[in-house]
Amino acid sequence: LLSRGGRHDDHMGNEIDEQPVVARRVLDALAPSIRDGALWNRLGLPPVEEIDRVAVLGCGTSLHAGRALAGVFARVGRIPTRALTASEAAHEVWEPRTLVVAMSQSGETADVLRALDGLPSGHGTVLALTNNTASSLARRADAVIDCLAGPEIGVAATKTFVAQVLTGACVALSGLSVSGRADAAVLDADLSALAATPDALSGALHAWRDRAADLAADLVTASGFLFLGRGAGLVYAAEGALKLKELSYRWAEHHAAGELKHGPLALVDAGTPVFVVDDGDPRLDVDIAEVEARGGRVIRVGERALRVGGLSLQLPRTGPSWGPLETVVPLQLFSRELALRLQRNVDKPRNLAKSVTVA
Ligand code: G6P
Repeated sequence: LLSRGGRHDDHMGNEIDEQPVVARRVLDALAPSIRDGALWNRLGLPPVEEIDRVAVLGCGTSLHAGRALAGVFARVGRIPTRALTASEAAHEVWEPRTLVVAMSQSGETADVLRALDGLPSGHGTVLALTNNTASSLARRADAVIDCLAGPEIGVAATKTFVAQVLTGACVALSGLSVSGRADAAVLDADLSALAATPDALSGALHAWRDRAADLAADLVTASGFLFLGRGAGLVYAAEGALKLKELSYRWAEHHAAGELKHGPLALVDAGTPVFVVDDGDPRLDVDIAEVEARGGRVIRVGERALRVGGLSLQLPRTGPSWGPLETVVPLQLFSRELALRLQRNVDKPRNLAKSVTVA
């Protein structure tokens, strides 16, 4: 079962491998209509000038994709943005002129549907971002966008995450590009980064396939894992920790790296595995040094640092507003490899379901 490349015996392995193709499909379909607001207008969304805030909601991996999307509205458009756990949305105070982006690959997650049912009237517009445009979620929304991932069989989401981030980014950039609110330099950098995404994802697949398998062999007895990030990288740390829990049943926590010293550092002991999602923030070097000083084993993912003769040279912080999306690939690969070594069913983790229709 420990297949390395080619077609796998499990759906999850194939779905991880498919991500560059999915990214290409999303961009072929949506990127040509980003400029001039064509995509945004086609969805019938109100002009960005009429939106005062954005609230993204979802559960699990879809919530993580939502957090990445929230970064696009915040960093490119400087729009106040929140990402909400759908099951907690009832405790929120809602304001008018809010764009609510409801994220769910299945479109049937009860917590998401209930959150939408609980919105007060006059809250604003609901955009559904889903892999199922015939879903209950789609029927409740003012506008619907298909994330074009194609069928995903593995319970733990992989390619739908990548598809949701990219679809959401295309929609947001489309609205922002004609709004006068966009930071033009950030917008241009994002458009270039979008085009480069399929290659970045396949590069990560090639670079990490064997390494993830070797790491899993090394770390098979580890009882717990930390995932750290900063800024736009943090949500990928969160997704890495979630994937590891879902698939391997090992304890995994994610934290903003700056929080290490406020508690999680006490967990670090000789050999404790600590994944660091590198978005180019130079402060990560200090965080890594703190972990290594306690004997922790740091696994750095991300392409923004070059190690030359033991020195870490930071590349310019030109990452896109949705963060270092390709870093999800090594984290998915590692979780799957570890789970296979532990004889877990990677397509159907215990206690979980693909579509959770009870709130
Ligand atoms: C379940 C799955 C998660 C998934 C979440 C949200 O809990 O186990 O992997 O991320 O549902 O699913 P959705 O269909 O709303 O994206």
